[in-house]
Amino acid sequence: ASYDMGGHDTYMHKEISEQPDAVDRVLRGRIDDRFSTVHLGGLNLDPREARGIRRVKILGCGTSYHAGLIGASLIEGMARIPADAEPASEFRYRNPVVDPDTLYIAVSQSGETYDVLAAVQELKRKGARVLGVVNVVGSAIAREADGGVYVHAGPEVCVVSTKCFTNTVVAFALLAVHLGRIRDLSVTDGKRIIEGLRRLPAQIEEILKGEEDIKELAAQYADAKSMMFIGRVRGYPVALEASLKLKEISYIHAEAYPASELKHGPLALIEPAMPTVAIVPDDDLLEKNRAALEEIKARSGRILAVAHREQEKADHTIIVPKNEDELDPILMGIPLQLLAYHTALALGRDIDKPRNLAKSVTVE
Ligand code: AGP
Repeated sequence: ASYDMGGHDTYMHKEISEQPDAVDRVLRGRIDDRFSTVHLGGLNLDPREARGIRRVKILGCGTSYHAGLIGASLIEGMARIPADAEPASEFRYRNPVVDPDTLYIAVSQSGETYDVLAAVQELKRKGARVLGVVNVVGSAIAREADGGVYVHAGPEVCVVSTKCFTNTVVAFALLAVHLGRIRDLSVTDGKRIIEGLRRLPAQIEEILKGEEDIKELAAQYADAKSMMFIGRVRGYPVALEASLKLKEISYIHAEAYPASELKHGPLALIEPAMPTVAIVPDDDLLEKNRAALEEIKARSGRILAVAHREQEKADHTIIVPKNEDELDPILMGIPLQLLAYHTALALGRDIDKPRNLAKSVTVE
């Protein structure tokens, strides 16, 4: 496919810039203010069935798997259904117990990823109920699923996913409110999340305005041979995704760890030549995250924090606007897309077509 670059030098830059509109699109027509809930036309799940779900298992690959990790925590947090995410191929090959009370959700930008499709087909063969959270309308996974939520990110051309990742997480937030309001999410909390979702496009716009500063930071970190990404609970999938993005397009080695795991091993890697990107939201874990920054600083590690306010232990802080705690991961990922982008640009990489990668992996 080839689409107009609209004045951008790369599709990746265009797609990062489109996120305010893309998020607007995934929300449009789905919010019901009267009952502080969300309507999802294609879900195919009546309230009685929704109340009967005992577990949620989310399956995807790569960036979509990372979106699924955030999706699982949104669903578990708001709908209070135990939920987790797993790479689709791992799931398929470990002969999992397929349980009739589990809701399976397949996540995919393309809707054609073989490992995800094969997992869906195996689940269907065993009588499971499978929903899709998919971007491409009418794709194989969308057709195979019993119902689902379209992500409406629009066409994504760059091999690495940016706007579709963001929109997929927003789609999961909608699904979490929908399931939550059928179960135990209060009217007040439903309203709080809905209002938070509505603030996202303007807040993303605000983050994108900081691009020049992020470009300067990228120039300072582009000489790193390796980078550490850390986050805690909600911040951990953000760290995973940001590290994948950096690897894919800049070819800089990166690792992502839960901040709490540092002292159980990876702290041995910390030295001035190994910078750390830390996700530090202003939530109930702020003090814990600050303690991790101190541990890194004590080993002379350079720190770039993504936070809601200046972090004094960090060498640099990228400040993002605060939303509801549950929705913060959506915003915290965005400056790190730009960081990966400008790092790759500084290193002269082929950003839209990184070596060895394909946009969708339709073979095993
Ligand atoms: C995106 O940055 C990657 N190129 C890759 O991890 C991708 O997310 C994965 O292959 C899954 O693709 P899908 O979302 O189209 O199923």
